[in-house]
Amino acid sequence: MKEEIRAKKKPKKQTVIDWIEYRLPIFSFVRHLAEYRTPKNLNYMWSFGSIAGIALVIQIVTGIFLAMHYTPSSDKAFASVEYIMRNVNYGWLIRYLHAVGASMFFMSVYIHIARGLYYGSYKSPRELVWFLGIFIFLLMMATAFMGYVLPWGQMSFWGATVIINLFSSIPIVGESIVRWLWGGFAVGNPTLQRLFALHYLFPFIIVAVVILHIVALHIHGSNNPTGVEVKTKKDTVPFHPYYTVKDFFGFGIYFIVYAYFVFYQPLYLGHPDNNIEANPLVTPEHIVPEWYMLPFYAILRAIPSKLGGVIIMMGAMLILLALPWLDKSKIKSGKYRPVFKVTYWIFIFDVMLLGYVGGNPPEGVYIYLGRFATFYYFTHFLLILPLLSRYEKHLPLPRSISEAYK
Ligand code: HEM
Repeated sequence: MKEEIRAKKKPKKQTVIDWIEYRLPIFSFVRHLAEYRTPKNLNYMWSFGSIAGIALVIQIVTGIFLAMHYTPSSDKAFASVEYIMRNVNYGWLIRYLHAVGASMFFMSVYIHIARGLYYGSYKSPRELVWFLGIFIFLLMMATAFMGYVLPWGQMSFWGATVIINLFSSIPIVGESIVRWLWGGFAVGNPTLQRLFALHYLFPFIIVAVVILHIVALHIHGSNNPTGVEVKTKKDTVPFHPYYTVKDFFGFGIYFIVYAYFVFYQPLYLGHPDNNIEANPLVTPEHIVPEWYMLPFYAILRAIPSKLGGVIIMMGAMLILLALPWLDKSKIKSGKYRPVFKVTYWIFIFDVMLLGYVGGNPPEGVYIYLGRFATFYYFTHFLLILPLLSRYEKHLPLPRSISEAYK
């Protein structure tokens, strides 16, 4: 690399671009991105990675503006959010863009994950792209949880109490860990301040992991709807203009849905109790997290023991890491796997059922539904996928992308 740079001749008449490029080749990097060859058959499901990237940037920008007016102290936080809503110029817009943006971000990432599950994007050679993605997902969950505490409403306070209390299930040291995390004997000012500091930090860690995610992706390039790897240049097109145009259309649709919620239903995705200031003396009737945590919340409650619930909930997330070994079918895309296709949709339905159960109180029929759906969740990964890898008869595969899309 050094040799190459040294060997480069200084251009005679230098533009500013030449001057920079000679010292730091960022423009050729941008050119690489634009010329990057991509399978020619990507459908709109492949736009959700870029959409998630836009969502992340919006969260960071709106978050920084919110932090300029927000006060992270337990006696001022709630009032400072009210101040943002009423007195800061366009404060209501910045806050709703951020709050609704969190939901939109999760929605795009859930679709992005579901796409990967259907088209087998977690299989060789993209295992590391997948692992980094799961790491991003865990960081997103932590960031969203901490962000929800900041407005210091009833759900913020009680959510933080319940979730941090989960650590108390760890034998011997559990109670001490909870007190250490709370910074006291209950959720209070120290808890709020540390969660604010970390909520500000984590998105930047997410950015760093996203960069690794994209670098790892660019080593072997994108998977595609056939799951057949690129064989020749004929199977690909340059990223620009083909996918820049396609992605921009995706952004347009995304922004229409986003704007609908921001301007017409800004509170729809949140819980009404969070508009009441935190009160340690009044417990809400049902403590529920945001919608995107509900499937995992249902799994947590499916086991009657606290420790068991925590283990199974962590297991539900971490099992995704084992996916490349649980599904060993040589065929990547669900398009050519007739039985997998059916089990895939049953699994998606199961996750939605878990979400529904998680949003309801753990009583009566919901207890049984929650246990059944949790059982099925693990059955899908531990039994159905390994069996399908062995016994499923796949449909004839095209020899190349070009053959499939003549
Ligand atoms: C901040 C969140 C994320 C961002 C910004 C992001 C970004 C991207 C982008 C831009 C791509 C290429 C375009 C595409 O294939 O859609 C991609 C591909 C991919 N992502 Fe993500 N991603 C995120 C989270 C995740 C998560 C949570 C997972 C999985 C658990 C994941 C798994 C993958 C996989 C497997 C691919 C390769 C897909 C293929 O080639 O078929 N990503 N990601």
